[in-house]
Amino acid sequence: MARIGLLTGGGDCPGLNAVIRGIVRQGVREYGDQFVGLRHGWAGVLAGEGRELGVQEVSGLLTRGGTILGSSRTNPYRDGGGGTEAVKAGMEKLGLDGLIAIGGEDTLGVARKLAADDVPVIGVPKTIDNDIACTDYTFGFDTAVQVASDAIDRLHTTAESHDRVIVVEVMGRHAGWIACSAGIAGGAHAILVPERPFELDQLCDQIRARHARGRNFSIVVASEGAAPKDGSLSAREDDVDEFGHPRLGGVGAWLEHEIERVTGFETRMVVLGHVQRGGTPTAYDRVLATRYGVGAIDAYNRGERGMMVALRGTEIITVPLAEALAEPKLLDPDLFRTAEVFFG
Ligand code: F6P
Repeated sequence: MARIGLLTGGGDCPGLNAVIRGIVRQGVREYGDQFVGLRHGWAGVLAGEGRELGVQEVSGLLTRGGTILGSSRTNPYRDGGGGTEAVKAGMEKLGLDGLIAIGGEDTLGVARKLAADDVPVIGVPKTIDNDIACTDYTFGFDTAVQVASDAIDRLHTTAESHDRVIVVEVMGRHAGWIACSAGIAGGAHAILVPERPFELDQLCDQIRARHARGRNFSIVVASEGAAPKDGSLSAREDDVDEFGHPRLGGVGAWLEHEIERVTGFETRMVVLGHVQRGGTPTAYDRVLATRYGVGAIDAYNRGERGMMVALRGTEIITVPLAEALAEPKLLDPDLFRTAEVFFG
C-alpha cells in the first residue's frame, strides 16, 4: 500500500480524467493505495496542497473532458521554483510516497529530473500533439483529430458553395500529426506541417492547378507551427511560457492574406485552437487513457521508477522517461507521403 500524488500538467486534453479514474480504481482495488489529487500540476506539489481521491471522487469521470485537478505550466526548476528539494518538501507535507505525473514533454521532463534525484515517479504521456517518443499514441490525439476532421468536413461544403480557399489552422507546435491525420481524414488539398517548411509559390501553384481542373474551392490544413521556407513568418519570441515555448498562431491569418494576394482566389481562414482540446474524449481515447491509468499504477506497484507507460502496437508497456524524452516524435514521413497523393 502506498500514498501517491496525482497531477496533470501542461495543456489539458481529453482523457485526463479517464486516466485519473483508471489509476484510482485499480490502485484501491488491487493494492489498497491511497491517492492525493494535486491542484494545477507541479504548482500543487510545490504548495503541498491536495485532496484525497477515492473511488467516490473519481466516479463519473470517464467521459468528462478537461481535468478535475486543474493544470498549469508551472516549472519547479525555473524562477525560484525550488527544484527537487521544494517538490520533496511538498510531498512530505502531504505524506506522499511517490507521484504519478500525467503530462507532455514539459511535465514529464520535470518527472525525469525528479526520478534522477530518486523521487519515486511514473509518467503518463498526454498531448493532443502526439509528439512523445517511444509510444505509438498519446491519449487526446484521437479526439483532436476527430474534432479537426469534423470541422474540415463542414468547411468543405461552405468553401464549395462560395468558390473559396479555406485555410484551417490546427494545433501542433513542432509536429504535424494533427494536421496530417485530420487532413487525410478530411480530404485536404494541401497540408502544411512544421517538419516541412513550405514555399508559398508552390502552394499557390497547387491551388491554381486544382482550380484550372474546374474545382473552384480548396482546403488547406496548416499546423500552427508550419512556416514558409523564406522565414517571412516567425513566432513572437517575446511571448513565451514557463517552459520557454513561444506562443504560436498566426500562420492561418498569414496564409489567408498571402494566398488571396498571389492567386486572386477569395480566401478565408479558421483557427480551431482550443476547441481541439475541449470536451469529451472519443471512445479510442477513453480506452487508451483507461489502459494508461491502470498500467501506470501497476508499474508503480511493481516497483518501477522513472518510467513512462506507452502503447507499442496493441500492448501497454513501460519505457524509461529519459528515453521517451530524448527527442520529440516528429511526423512519420510515410504518413505525409500518403497525404501528398491527394494534394492539388
Ligand atoms: O501542447 C499542447 C498544445 O495544445 C499545443 O498544441 C499548443 O501549441 C499549446 O498546447 C497551446 O498552449 P496554451 O493552452 O497554453 O495556449
